[in-house]
Amino acid sequence: MTGTHNRLPGRRTALKLAGGFAAFSALFPAACMAAEAKDRNGKVLVAYFSATGTTARVAKKLAEGLGADLFEIRPEKPYSPQDLDWHDKQSRSSVEMHDPKSRPAIAAKVGNMGQYGTVFVGFPIWWHRSPAIISTFLESYDFSGRTIVPFATSGGSGLGKTESIFKELCPKAAVRRGRVLNASPDKAEIVEWAKSVLR
Ligand SMILES: Cc1cc2nc3c(=O)[nH]c(=O)nc-3n(C[C@H](O)[C@H](O)[C@H](O)COP(=O)(O)O)c2cc1C
Repeated sequence: MTGTHNRLPGRRTALKLAGGFAAFSALFPAACMAAEAKDRNGKVLVAYFSATGTTARVAKKLAEGLGADLFEIRPEKPYSPQDLDWHDKQSRSSVEMHDPKSRPAIAAKVGNMGQYGTVFVGFPIWWHRSPAIISTFLESYDFSGRTIVPFATSGGSGLGKTESIFKELCPKAAVRRGRVLNASPDKAEIVEWAKSVLR
């Protein structure tokens, strides 16, 4: 892979961007608030993949706040720190993310996915998009007629190509606009966003 590696944000840039997100949230606190979350089709599931715990924290707050079920998308083979080294072109994550057909195996499936009308899918941004294991997850179920909402944490990047990936892999689902939830948003802020999406 070429120069793209170098475009991954450094820690300082990520902190600045995270600060920018917080400032934006402070300026427009009520812009997207909904009165009540509506779950028209069934129960709500929050499914997430998290390699280093950041997305997991957001996912837990989201599930608690919505009273939703929580499911961790666990890789069959956990990612080691070496696997996550994006500076190394040969690391597992680099190799997976540069192969569009890569589908890392998931350790367990959601029991009775059919009961969920809405599925929030959380992940870290890898290489400006959702990790390959999220593609594995999306291809593992029939999401026809369901609502899918992506959310992510990142070092500063937005969702990038994620929305188009979701729409391509789940053509019969209603894929809603997702959001990067950086800067450790509190539960109330996360839930307000989630409710606005479900409105
Ligand atoms: C392999 C890899 C690639 C990454 N690519 C990006 C990226 O393109 N843009 C970005 O802002 N952050 C990137 N990051 C940083 C993660 O998105 C960020 O640290 C995230 O919050 C980690 O979430 P987690 O703790 O749930 O795994 C990358 C991290 C890894 C390990």
